[in-house]
Amino acid sequence: MAVETKGLSLWYGSFQALFDVDISIREGKVTSMIGPSGCGKSTFLRTVNRINERHSYVRTEGSVKVFGEDVMAEGVELVQVRKQVGMVFQRPNALPISIRDNVLFGLGLHSKKKPSKSEGDDIVEKSLKRVLLWDNVKDKLGTVATSLSLEEQQKLCIARLLPMKPRVLLMDEPCSALDPKATAAVEDLIWELRGEYTILIVTHNMAQARRASDECIFMLLGKVIEHTETGEMFLTPQNQATADYIEGRYG
Ligand SMILES: Nc1ncnc2c1ncn2[C@@H]1O[C@H](COP(=O)(O)OP(=O)(O)OP(=O)(O)O)[C@@H](O)[C@H]1O
Ligand SMILES: [Mg+2]
Repeated sequence: MAVETKGLSLWYGSFQALFDVDISIREGKVTSMIGPSGCGKSTFLRTVNRINERHSYVRTEGSVKVFGEDVMAEGVELVQVRKQVGMVFQRPNALPISIRDNVLFGLGLHSKKKPSKSEGDDIVEKSLKRVLLWDNVKDKLGTVATSLSLEEQQKLCIARLLPMKPRVLLMDEPCSALDPKATAAVEDLIWELRGEYTILIVTHNMAQARRASDECIFMLLGKVIEHTETGEMFLTPQNQATADYIEGRYG
């Protein structure tokens, strides 16, 4: 399994946000995570690459394994976890530096040796090609990245994870700031990255979960209610709460 949690519970102070969550995410697949606002989707993602811990009032129990290694264990280096597990957010957070420097930014943080100019060129080209952005930007790599369209910026945010050679990509509503056309383009890209990367994507867009994922997890109030193959979840949900949610009967 690419990601496997067992008995994962999480508290923000005295408020419990995750209850005994057992989730197994299959390697090379796209898994979508759905559920009403506040059910703990972002909390789950943030636990997998350990971003939650920047809050001192967060406490967790249980285990989180990424390719068999417990990322919560003592002595685990956060830098190593974040290299393996990249994260993409709702709003593209491209940095106000050049497109080229955005792609190379993570390497600067994560590796001791700075790539040479030609190594850098190579990494930039490969990464931008992988996210289907190269043709749009190859003649303006020195331009400030924040001048790109939101779709291009979100693709760039994915591209800049790739030099670290992550194996898992966590995406928290990566299309929610995009218009329908840009959403479709980013969905196509996610589908294209499937296989080489294991992708876990949170979405409020049922059509997107249905179109663009192999498996689907439905969460409610910090618990996993159902986790099945996506087609099955939408055709024959096993749980009444799942059926209600995907048919839009929830607030
Ligand atoms: N930093 C925090 N401190 C305290 N409580 C938090 C914090 N982050 C989230 N919560 C609470 O934990 C619960 C789960 O929040 P989370 O953001 O994981 O939900 P979500 O499923 O991602 O919702 P949405 O669909 O709105 O993004 C909510 O009740 C939320 O208020
Ligand atoms: Mg969220």
